[in-house]
Amino acid sequence: MAPSLPMDPNTWDVISFAVDKAHGVKGLADLGLETLPKQYIQPPEEQIIHSTVVTENSIPVIDLSNWNDPMVAEQICNAAEKWGFFQIVNHGIPIEVSENVKEATRQFFGLPAEQKNKHSKDNSPTNNVRYGTSFTPKAEKALEWKDFLSLFYVSDDEAAAQWPSACRNEALDFMKKSEFVIRRLLQALMKGLNVKEIDETKESLFMGSKRINLNYYPKCPEPELTVGVGRHSDVSTLTILLQDDIGGLYVKKLDSDAWVHVPPINGAIVINVGDALQIRSNGKYKSVEHRVIANGIKNRISVPIFVNPRPSDIIGPLPEVLESGEKPIYKQVLYSDYVKHFFRKAHDGKETVDFAKI
Ligand code: OGA
Ligand code: NI
Repeated sequence: MAPSLPMDPNTWDVISFAVDKAHGVKGLADLGLETLPKQYIQPPEEQIIHSTVVTENSIPVIDLSNWNDPMVAEQICNAAEKWGFFQIVNHGIPIEVSENVKEATRQFFGLPAEQKNKHSKDNSPTNNVRYGTSFTPKAEKALEWKDFLSLFYVSDDEAAAQWPSACRNEALDFMKKSEFVIRRLLQALMKGLNVKEIDETKESLFMGSKRINLNYYPKCPEPELTVGVGRHSDVSTLTILLQDDIGGLYVKKLDSDAWVHVPPINGAIVINVGDALQIRSNGKYKSVEHRVIANGIKNRISVPIFVNPRPSDIIGPLPEVLESGEKPIYKQVLYSDYVKHFFRKAHDGKETVDFAKI
């Protein structure tokens, strides 16, 4: 049953309701609040209305119809160097697969709070499945207007036993059907780093573990005062992001203070370089800051797959990159330490990568 509308959202215990009782921001949105609870008000510098947004250009869109054309690999490497973000079209991931996982995301978040709450930090029997809201509420001064379900892939059997049935098959299918695209993107990017042979051992250094998130950004009262996701870069090797047709993802243009919108393109998938690849490429490929604004008109969903090193891998500049005498700007760090550092703090732009700087 939906709780009744509190008289004053600023005296009522919003944190207890949204975070502890796991109603999430969807629970708040369903109450029909007309003002944004103060816990969600971000400092002005985090609000997009106080940022420079440029509309003259946006991230590259790369057509993958002709994988074998060397121009395609060149475009991928170029985009990874100049933008850190690009969209791919004609990538071969069937449209039903992406439609199905988006629909499953709506299904999951449409479940009653008690059902979703079975997967919250306090209740989930496994760390591999986590339903939550905001990013790290305990470490945040202001919360983010987002709910999520995060699924760490271990094996098909584990997923069958632990992942919520509302979205399990669709999430697994999207992960599997995107695998060959990920592999080819990595091959192109590795060639650009002078890495010749990519055998299975090498491959697993880059894509040895995967996490898929289902993100839900409900319609928000006073959206300009908060954020969907604050400024951050991903800790992945690469992120494969499916978004619906609402829009709201902004990417920071390299060497500037300007932000560009990532326009939804029907059938396209957004790819971005994460910190692990920036570090291994010794800064050649860029893991850039991005954020999502809140939306006052419609609910938005997105589904990122974070393609990661394994937790036990060491990340540092690759020998092939340093071969020519280039000085390393990052040290060798244990990937699980790097990820722990990321999750210990609120989103803070590009600061995570300082953890690995020499
Ligand atoms: C993320 C992220 C963007 C989006 O989950 O790391 O940046 O569009 N998501 O939801
Ligand atoms: Ni991100």
